[in-house]
Amino acid sequence: MTTTLLRGRTLSFLRWPDSADDHASYAYEEDGAVLMRDGKIAAVGAYAEVAAQAGDAKIIDHRPHLVLPGFIDAHVHIPQMQIIAAYGAELLEWLNKYTFPEETRFIDAQHGRRIARLFLDEMVRHGTTTVAAYCSVHKQSAEAFFAESHERNMLNIAGKVMMDRNAPDGVLDTPQTSYDDTKALITEWHGKGRQLYAITPRFAITSTPEQMEMAGQLAREHPGLHIQTHLSENHAEIAFTQELYPWSRDYTDVYEHYGLLGQRTLLGHCIHLGERESDAISEHGSIAVFCPTSNLFLGSGLFDYQRYRKRDKPLRIATATDVGGGTNYSMLRTMDEAYKVIALNGEKLNPLASYWQLTRGNAESLSIADKVGTLEVGTDADIVVLDARATPGMRLRMERTGTLAEELFLLQTLGDDRAVVEVYVAGKAAKSTMDQAA
Ligand code: GUN
Ligand code: ZN
Repeated sequence: MTTTLLRGRTLSFLRWPDSADDHASYAYEEDGAVLMRDGKIAAVGAYAEVAAQAGDAKIIDHRPHLVLPGFIDAHVHIPQMQIIAAYGAELLEWLNKYTFPEETRFIDAQHGRRIARLFLDEMVRHGTTTVAAYCSVHKQSAEAFFAESHERNMLNIAGKVMMDRNAPDGVLDTPQTSYDDTKALITEWHGKGRQLYAITPRFAITSTPEQMEMAGQLAREHPGLHIQTHLSENHAEIAFTQELYPWSRDYTDVYEHYGLLGQRTLLGHCIHLGERESDAISEHGSIAVFCPTSNLFLGSGLFDYQRYRKRDKPLRIATATDVGGGTNYSMLRTMDEAYKVIALNGEKLNPLASYWQLTRGNAESLSIADKVGTLEVGTDADIVVLDARATPGMRLRMERTGTLAEELFLLQTLGDDRAVVEVYVAGKAAKSTMDQAA
């Protein structure tokens, strides 16, 4: 039995915070502790109380730093690490010019494994302990990712993309091979350790109706699985989709028609939805995934977070980096850009809500809040430790900071990987271990 006691300022959300003064929305201990036993959280609360149950646990003192649940990134592309920061294109040109050619390289399993390793290193360095990830079309790219994730005992959701048209031959499968490969990957990886498989038709443009049928069949055969795809990111994409599926009422209708909308369906972007589409997504309980750095970088548009959240039929929302359309691996940087996008829509996101979203909110949207996203007893010990004084500028700003909400907002606005002191994955120190090995 490995037992470790973390001492620090513990923070875990209980529900959506209505304002920066909504103290009932979270559990916070100024001198707090988390007891981690065999990869799970065994106790949490005031240090004196938790220490009394800790026996001879190894004590790691993180004071004065904040101890939070690890961050969750609900949409990211592993094969795009080497095309992040590709200049000058909107979505469809960016895909054709940079993304698809880059993804052809993932036919090489060794390349896939190298990038998977470096990708998960980056996640840990940035405090992210769970992702919902797109691999390339190649079965071996998903195998490489799951193997790497399993070896690290991380809870990750991933799938090979299904795509059989409107892209170069090197990144195309067929309806049948996409079905067969997905099926084999589900059998091998879904539920192995902490790995979860997501059925991943890339988007309507790169799938024929025959392949969409296959994706729907996979969804029917495996009702507990996540499904991830892209929806309504860019106007040219929407117009092209309408040409390819002329019978559809709108873009969302395509996914609806093939039975792909459910409570575990993650819809990347959802920027330009009509009211009927929002209603349909809400009724199915599917999730709109907000990727602010990507939406700004590709000039796709401004996700209307508060309108979606507050409408009569509200949308479930998650946030994500969408690397490599997104421009930063950090969920702190992502929420900073989210704040600005929401401000451009005339609203504000309070700092507590921001951290709720990053942790419990994203976990609830991914239907994994029973495992991660909080510091609740019995959940997996995936934890990030943050330092709001990580840089000289942050230290100086902290001199004028009084409340917890102000400190969190500073961390979000000025923070990045430098603010991540340590990361625990299933109770084991992952960042310092990685740094020492380097
Ligand atoms: N739509 C289809 N594929 C992609 C992708 O890789 N990135 C983004 N941002 N949008 C997409
Ligand atoms: Zn994407």
